[in-house]
Amino acid sequence: MPKNLVAHLQTVDAERRSATKGQRPIVIWLTGLSGAGKSSIANVLELALCNAGRHTYLLDGDNIRLGLCNDLGFSDADRVENIRRISEVAKLFMDAGLIVITAFISPFLRDRALAREVIGEGNFVEVFIDTPLSECERRDPKGLYKKAREGLIKNFTGIDSAYEAPLNPQVRINTLEDDLETAAQRIVDFIGKQSQK
Ligand code: ADX
Repeated sequence: MPKNLVAHLQTVDAERRSATKGQRPIVIWLTGLSGAGKSSIANVLELALCNAGRHTYLLDGDNIRLGLCNDLGFSDADRVENIRRISEVAKLFMDAGLIVITAFISPFLRDRALAREVIGEGNFVEVFIDTPLSECERRDPKGLYKKAREGLIKNFTGIDSAYEAPLNPQVRINTLEDDLETAAQRIVDFIGKQSQK
């Protein structure tokens, strides 16, 4: 634990920032296998929210791993650290008043539970992009499953690294049935209902 640090009280707080935006900040946490459709759905979802006048930010696995997390690989420990950093960054953006969308495999139950804890129960919406491994592998948009099967990539999620599916996600998207627009709309509808509570 860090020592000799004291949180500084800031005059402009989260409530004040979100009030200037006229929105309730939340984190919409997408989880699922590589190739499940997280980034594509997140992209359409962000556009829909933006079109509705919402101020959003999208944190996406591949992009974040090119910058903030470019020192991390795909061992279990590195994935844990990846998700820890994303949870903290998502919390900061939420504090800034934004609606945050995250699109990471985030394969471990424990780390998603920690993310929920960091972000706060009432602000965390877990969305399971539920595409079966066989379908992700059939789509193989980046050719990574083929490489993993050939042994060219180690620790690949679903092949030789675990994916622990959510037990009780707030939204479950079946990408075999729903196209991108329908999937994004389901999430928008859920958030709409929730913000009326
Ligand atoms: S996570 O497990 O730490 O949440 P993250 O979502 O950031 O993963 O990154 C996943 C992306 O990295 C995949 O969509 C894929 O493009 C790429 N990738 C490269 N190597 C691997 C691997 N061994 N396992 C999973 N994804 C990998």
